[in-house]
Parts: sequence; C-alpha cells; structure tokens
Amino acid sequence: MTATTEVLRAHAEDQHASELAALAANDDRPRPPNWRMSPWAVVTYVLGGEAGDGTPITPKYLGGRRLVEVAVATLATDRALLLLGVPGTAKTWLSEHLAAAVSGDSTQLVQGTSGTSEESIRYGWNYARLLSEGPSRRALVASPVLRAMEGGGIARIEELTRIPSDVQDALITVLSEKTLPIPELDDEVQARGGFNVIATANDRDRGVNDLSAALKRRFNVVVLPLPEDVESEVEIVRLRVGQLGAALRLPAELEAVEEIRRVVTVFRELREGVTADGRTKIKSPSGTLSTAEAISVMTSGMALAAHFGDGVVRAADVAAGLQGAVVKDPVADRLVWQEYLEAVVRERRPWADLYRACRELG
Ligand SMILES: Nc1ncnc2c1ncn2[C@@H]1O[C@H](COP(=O)(O)OP(=O)(O)OP(=O)(O)O)[C@@H](O)[C@H]1O
Ligand SMILES: [Mg+2]
Repeated sequence: MTATTEVLRAHAEDQHASELAALAANDDRPRPPNWRMSPWAVVTYVLGGEAGDGTPITPKYLGGRRLVEVAVATLATDRALLLLGVPGTAKTWLSEHLAAAVSGDSTQLVQGTSGTSEESIRYGWNYARLLSEGPSRRALVASPVLRAMEGGGIARIEELTRIPSDVQDALITVLSEKTLPIPELDDEVQARGGFNVIATANDRDRGVNDLSAALKRRFNVVVLPLPEDVESEVEIVRLRVGQLGAALRLPAELEAVEEIRRVVTVFRELREGVTADGRTKIKSPSGTLSTAEAISVMTSGMALAAHFGDGVVRAADVAAGLQGAVVKDPVADRLVWQEYLEAVVRERRPWADLYRACRELG
C-alpha cells in the first residue's frame, strides 16, 4: 500500500498559494513595507472576489466587509490587532488567513495557555550550545514573535488572555518600542517594516487574565460577531463543510442544505432561548453551540452517510452529533435537550424524522 504524502491540513499560504500569487502579481495599489500585497488585495483574499487577471478568489471568511477592512488597516499601522469574540466565531481562522495574505507566513504562532512562558514571546537558549560556545546568537532560540520581528512579518498569538499577566507584559516593549532587548548579548532586535501582531481572545475568558491597560492600549480590538441570521449561518456551515468534506475525501452528497438549515436552526434556538418564530421560550444548554460546532455536526453526519449510509445526509446521521453538541453536562443539559425535543422538535411536522432519530438514541 502506498502511503499518501499529503498533509492533513496545509497552511493557508500553501493551500491558497495560487490565489495569493495571482493577487500579488496583479496588484498596483500601494503596499505597506514588506507586505506581499496591498491591503485592498488582502481584503479580497479574505472575502473572495477576483484578482486583477480574473483569477477567482474563494471567500474564506463570511462576514462584514468593514470589519475585515478595519482589521487589515490596523495591521498597516503601529497598533496590533486583537480579534475578540465568543468561541467559534472564526478568530483563529481569520488570523491565519490575514497572516498568510499579509506576510505569506501564518506559522509564526504562539499558543497562549496558563503555562506560556516569557521564552515563547521573547527567546530562549539552546543549552547545549550555550554551554559549549557561551552566549551567542547561535545559541539563542528565537520565539515566533522574534522571528516575525526580524523578518518583517506577522506573529500570531492565540488566546492572549490565557497567558499570565506578567508574561503578557513582555509584549508591551515589543509593541511600543518595536525592539526586543537581549541583555545577555548586549544586543537587541529591531523589528523590520511589516512586523505586527494578531492576537485572538475569547469573550468568555474575559477576566481570566484580563489585559493590562498598558497592553490594551497597544491593540485595536475587532469583535467578530455571531452570524446575524439563519441564512448567513447556513451559508458559513455550507461553505466550510464543503471544503472540509473535500479535504477528507468524503464522497457524501453536499446537497444537504436542508439538513444544515435544521442543525443551524436547532443551534440558534437553543442559543437564543426562544424558537425562531419567537413564540416558545426554551432553556439554553451550558455549552456555546457555536457555528464551529454546527460545522462538526454536519461533517460527522457526512462521514456517517458516506461510510455507512447511501451518501445522502439524513436526520439519523446528524442526530447523534446534535445530541453530543447540546448535552455537555449529563444532567442539566440532558433535561434541556429532552424538553426541546418534546416541546419544539415533536411539534414540527416536517421534523418527524429528526424527532424519531433523536428518540431512538435514547
Ligand atoms: N463567519 C465565518 N466565516 C467562515 N468560517 C467561519 C465563520 N464563522 C465560523 N467559521 C468556521 O468555524 C470554524 C472555527 O473557527 P475558529 O476555530 O477560528 O473559531 P475561534 O473563534 O478561534 O474559536 P475559539 O474561541 O474556540 O478558539 C472554522 O472552521 C471557521 O472556518
Ligand atoms: Mg481560536
């Protein structure tokens, strides 16, 4: 058997290399220093459209144009960009695509956790080298931030507010002075043009390690909203499920729009605590029920339909995923789900198959 050499998930700049090349080659608008393309072309890359030579550009993020313009414009200033929003609103996704388009490299990434140390924002040492050669640039292990500074590119910091405050503060000098001192070598690294930082943070984490006022002042905040209405959320799920299904080589039918609409409707109703017609109040479960979860419910449904069904996604293929997404707490959420099934799903005649499929799960 031959093993496939394809990676499971290519970086945005590799996956969309031809789009990025077409945009860069046919772009006569002004570019900030070291940018691969103009801010205008970056927005086209993100929202989709056409390159100057007619190459079609697929949409990556579905959302407001102004919001993306503000995000891109921020990157061309001396302020960093903070993408804020509830889970599953494409903060990470947008940050990767912005970095790919602006600097052609989305991989200078720091994953913020409560254990993130200053080394991951500044630099560390290769101790074997340090011991054998003494302190030198060769013994220094640059962080993604340092590498982005040297290369004039974008550094990404995921989940900024999970990083302990004193470590966060290491960013202040970087963002305000655009310099990183290396006292051990009596040296410093000065950021080249094009350097900036895109950070993401979760709304729900607010207060975990709140950003200090000093750091906050160095960021422009762009809040990524939940999709405004059912149709835009269906569109997002459809786009992403199609792409993911293709990447996973799932042969299931994509004409599952009706099924997607149902899943999205269930999610929105439970999230908002009221049915779509505004008539029936319902309880909300403990989880977030984000668009991202709707995408995974549909992707699992497609895998079930493709491998164990006839390739068409039906109620029975999404029921387990739905229940799993809603019931995160085995007691309280189960009650919420039962109530929703009986009070809402059962009453909708065209949803009889979904009701049956969910009941059969027990
Ligand atoms: N408006 C949107 N346009 C395109 N894709 C979207 C949109 N909203 C959500 N998605 C999809 O949802 C998935 C999850 O997004 P992502 O992981 O970036 O969310 P996040 O905001 O970083 O969540 P978390 O707070 O959990 O880290 C991605 O596959 C992304 O494509
Ligand atoms: Mg994220």
